[in-house]
Amino acid sequence: MSAPSIPGVDRILFTEDQIESRIREVATEISRRYAGKSLKLVGVLKGSVFFLTALARHIDVPLKIDFLGISSFSNKTGAPGLVRIAKDLDESIEGEEVLLIEDIVDTGFTLRYLLQTLAGRAPQSLSVCTFLDRNSRRIVQVPVDYRCFEIPDRFVVGFGLDHNQLYRNLGYVAVMKPDRTS
Ligand code: IMP
Ligand code: MG
Repeated sequence: MSAPSIPGVDRILFTEDQIESRIREVATEISRRYAGKSLKLVGVLKGSVFFLTALARHIDVPLKIDFLGISSFSNKTGAPGLVRIAKDLDESIEGEEVLLIEDIVDTGFTLRYLLQTLAGRAPQSLSVCTFLDRNSRRIVQVPVDYRCFEIPDRFVVGFGLDHNQLYRNLGYVAVMKPDRTS
């Protein structure tokens, strides 16, 4: 495949076709797991939006969607891992089967915070589905129930993932040129 002519983008990691077919597989697994139940997908803004909508179209149990927004920042020593909810869910998740939808799990700090927060709201169940997983950089261990792709330790953009808020609308996932991510 030819390299995309977008400044900063190095090479395509997953094409639109690969993404679509993998999402169908994961949606089938999810549909089996929640057969006979109804499901609430909770998306983390903004990165998971593209993945959530693509996945939801292939899940065949009744489902609701809701979103929350977070801000993550480093503390004064530069240590990562501080996360807070900037926009909360619109509705309660008490008693619901909740599937948290992430764009990428990297160090795991964001996911750990979200799981702790949501677990405190008494859902019937709480599971995790991520589009990308960069397990090699994990600092805190977090449960990931469904993942579309494991990725190498390179900064990626597209299909919801951004660099300085750009590139979310690419239909594929691409690796950024190293000098663009520093
Ligand atoms: P964690 O708390 O380190 O797991 O952070 C995960 C968050 O960092 C994701 O939800 C993304 O917003 C962001 N992130 C991590 N790696 C990448 C990447 O390669 N491209 C774009 N965003 C990323
Ligand atoms: Mg994110």
